[in-house]
Amino acid sequence: MLRVDQTVTTPPPFLTQEISLPVKGNTPVNSEYRLLVLDAPRELLDLCRPGQFFNLLCPQAGGEAPYLRRPMSIYGFYPEKGELHFLYKVTGAGTRALATLGTGDELNVVGPLGEPFSIEDDWQHLVLVARGVGLATLAPLAIEANRLGRKLTAICSARHPDYLMSTEHFAALGADVITVTDDDGSSSPQNLETILERLIAEGRADAFYTCGSNRLLRLLQKVGKAHGVPGQIALEQQMACGLGMCQCCVRPLKRDGAIVYLRVCREGPVFDMSEVVA
Ligand SMILES: Cc1cc2nc3c(=O)[nH]c(=O)nc-3n(C[C@H](O)[C@H](O)[C@H](O)COP(=O)(O)OP(=O)(O)OC[C@H]3O[C@@H](n4cnc5c(N)ncnc54)[C@H](O)[C@@H]3O)c2cc1C
Ligand code: FES
Repeated sequence: MLRVDQTVTTPPPFLTQEISLPVKGNTPVNSEYRLLVLDAPRELLDLCRPGQFFNLLCPQAGGEAPYLRRPMSIYGFYPEKGELHFLYKVTGAGTRALATLGTGDELNVVGPLGEPFSIEDDWQHLVLVARGVGLATLAPLAIEANRLGRKLTAICSARHPDYLMSTEHFAALGADVITVTDDDGSSSPQNLETILERLIAEGRADAFYTCGSNRLLRLLQKVGKAHGVPGQIALEQQMACGLGMCQCCVRPLKRDGAIVYLRVCREGPVFDMSEVVA
């Protein structure tokens, strides 16, 4: 029988809201991804942390009838502008329906949800490695790292140069941006490993951060283990409630020499990279 360990971590008090927010913008970034900007109150934005997500009640629109809410990472939260941003890939009924939202429409959201990224005091040089929509999750982490005066390297991976996103965002935060693509083969694990080894040799990798991709996770776990570089990953797992009740998002993790089953929505989505079973 599957046993879910809910005692391993004690998440902080659940500060979250269900709220309908007006759409300020919903524009294509390229042929696959869109940027959704919601008008949000400061009290909600003040609760947000990098790595957290919202569960979105996608509308019944455009012939789509998405049933459950869809989880979406916070791409940006700007209390001073009153804006909450999501970067999403149109993949199925929920995100197709999201794409129909226009300025002035309302979207019901629940959040912020989940455990955020953390930046330890001695992690001065951070290496962010992400591919596709994983970049959305790491974008607010880069803002926080910049605020704390940490040095950043952002390795952005994509199928094709047209799908590279957030590179300007990372560069504007002072990051050294390295782009790799499938098109020219530079996104291969071998090349990424060479890049990571170089950063470590130059003393520019105190911690790794990534999101989603199993391939990147395996590589970062291997390089991190070999050189003693810690890291964190935001996992993506299909979700229903997003609140810790339905248990549909449990994943096995290695903790204290045993396998424990934790909920990605509640104990995650951010986990210590060394604990995750790729
Ligand atoms: C914590 C979290 C944060 C996320 N952040 C983002 C984000 O910032 N931007 C973004 O575009 N997407 C993000 N996702 C994935 C997003 O939730 C799914 O793409 C979305 O639910 C798909 O809904 P749909 O109805 O459009 O497609 P569906 O018809 O439900 O699915 C379309 C395809 O996507 C796959 N899929 C569905 N849900 C997930 C999931 N959770 N993870 C991986 N694959 C999935 C399905 O297996 C199917 O192949 C996140 C997921 C999680 C768990
Ligand atoms: S989605 Fe319901 S417990 Fe995680």
